[in-house]
Amino acid sequence: ISSLPTVEGWLSHYQGFWIPTKCMHGVLATQKHLQAHETDILLATIPKAGTTWLKAILFALVNRVRYLDSQQHPLLANNPHTLLPFLETKLFYKKNEVSDLTLLTSPRLFATHLSYSSLPTSVKNSTCKIVYVCRNPKDTFVSQWHFQNKVGALMVTKPVSNSLEQSFNNFCRGMSVYGPFWDHVLSYWIESLEKPEKVFFLKYEEMKEQPIIHLKRLAEFLGCSFSPEEEEKGRVNDILKLCSFDNLSNLEINKKGKSSVFGIENASYFRKGEVGDWKNYLTAQMVERLDCITEEKFHTVGLKF
Ligand code: A3P
Repeated sequence: ISSLPTVEGWLSHYQGFWIPTKCMHGVLATQKHLQAHETDILLATIPKAGTTWLKAILFALVNRVRYLDSQQHPLLANNPHTLLPFLETKLFYKKNEVSDLTLLTSPRLFATHLSYSSLPTSVKNSTCKIVYVCRNPKDTFVSQWHFQNKVGALMVTKPVSNSLEQSFNNFCRGMSVYGPFWDHVLSYWIESLEKPEKVFFLKYEEMKEQPIIHLKRLAEFLGCSFSPEEEEKGRVNDILKLCSFDNLSNLEINKKGKSSVFGIENASYFRKGEVGDWKNYLTAQMVERLDCITEEKFHTVGLKF
């Protein structure tokens, strides 16, 4: 690990992506030890694309028969990151300790920020399902910038420059958490085109705009479609309401407490939860630069934001 090229020490360049140096051990351990089961469901995202939201949705969706009528739904008392743990920063994070995941009930739900190319071989070779969530690069960048300013000190070993301009330059050059952003998105987009039964590709913006349609699509992809009776009972809306920004961000557990190995406060995962906040931060020049890169990287594969 110490021989990898780094950005100011805190991001290490590994298999074409910039991984937080503090996560490198967990990444290597995940790649080495995870044995995927056919029934596993893996949520993959680039940081700040809506991971917390989709963790809540996946947990509520998959466990709806067991919990949706319960007054003590686990999401009311636990942060989504506790219920659907990250592989590299939770389950395989501890040095000298390999998590025994065989005892977890099926379907096992995990999350990762790894690109498709860096996923453990057993994930790629098994028939387990992958749900990938991404977000337009301008909002992703702004959200990452806020988050880093808030919690960066917990993640870095020496100070990094946090000016919007410097961070923006780094983002455009691909030097952002789990970036280059475009390569990360492309790695899953291409796979979702080739193997639609394995990779479900979802944009934050489309989930915001048409949540009912996309939640039903997601359920179908996972093999747990809503029955007509469930639809009649309003189950789709129940899940969306439970997992909404307003509901989750106002729960005591998410206002207080910490759930990550880095000591990040749960409240840090909830900021505005809107589409288009970039308009409040980026200059016309910045927008043009980012749009240009996005167009250049994505136009040949038919991906638009
Ligand atoms: P903003 O910073 O734009 O508000 P991640 O979960 O991948 O870390 O992403 C965090 C982003 O998702 C933040 O975006 C956060 O506010 C938003 N978010 C968190 N929970 C959400 C929810 N239930 N619905 C919609 N957006 C949510």
